[in-house]
Amino acid sequence: MSVVVVIGNPSPGGRTTAVGQAVGEAVATARGETDVDTIELAGIAAHLFEWGNEAVQATTARVAAADVVITACPTYKATYTGLLKAFLDQYGNDGLAGCRAVPVMVGASLHHALAPEVHLRPLLVELGASVPSRGLYVLDSAMDTLETAVADWVKIAGPLLSR
Ligand SMILES: Cc1cc2nc3c(=O)[nH]c(=O)nc-3n(C[C@H](O)[C@H](O)[C@H](O)COP(=O)(O)O)c2cc1C
Repeated sequence: MSVVVVIGNPSPGGRTTAVGQAVGEAVATARGETDVDTIELAGIAAHLFEWGNEAVQATTARVAAADVVITACPTYKATYTGLLKAFLDQYGNDGLAGCRAVPVMVGASLHHALAPEVHLRPLLVELGASVPSRGLYVLDSAMDTLETAVADWVKIAGPLLSR
């Protein structure tokens, strides 16, 4: 799948999933595509420290094969979750080389609005991904304006994430 959304939330199906899917659909539309592959890391959380686990290996391969990887994560303690980090730690050097990645975070406080840029972007860059667009931070309290926020964001980000 060319657009993959990775949800780094220990609680699947919440606001973070809704935000990640909205961003994934907007990016796919900008690329003239319809399909988006959404992966809830909560589904493999119990296996992330079993090195060589087949489900984990299949998931890392699925993500690394994508053209665009949207990492959507709740803000925990001013940064991303341990779940997302434990997943991304599975990759070797430059494990996401050839992917374009988008740092997306959801949080309760505006104090952490730069977390996608100052915390998640460097992690994605360290893995060899290209991060050509701005990240996106969505407040819990702003879910009712999610559609507008994503539409505004994708006006600039969409062309940078297209072929
Ligand atoms: C353990 C924990 C730590 C959190 N730390 C922060 C934080 O430092 N900054 C913040 O803005 N929100 C923080 N939050 C709030 C979550 O980021 C926020 O509610 C997020 O939207 C939850 O996403 P969800 O609805 O998809 O589960 C924290 C929540 C939890 C459970």
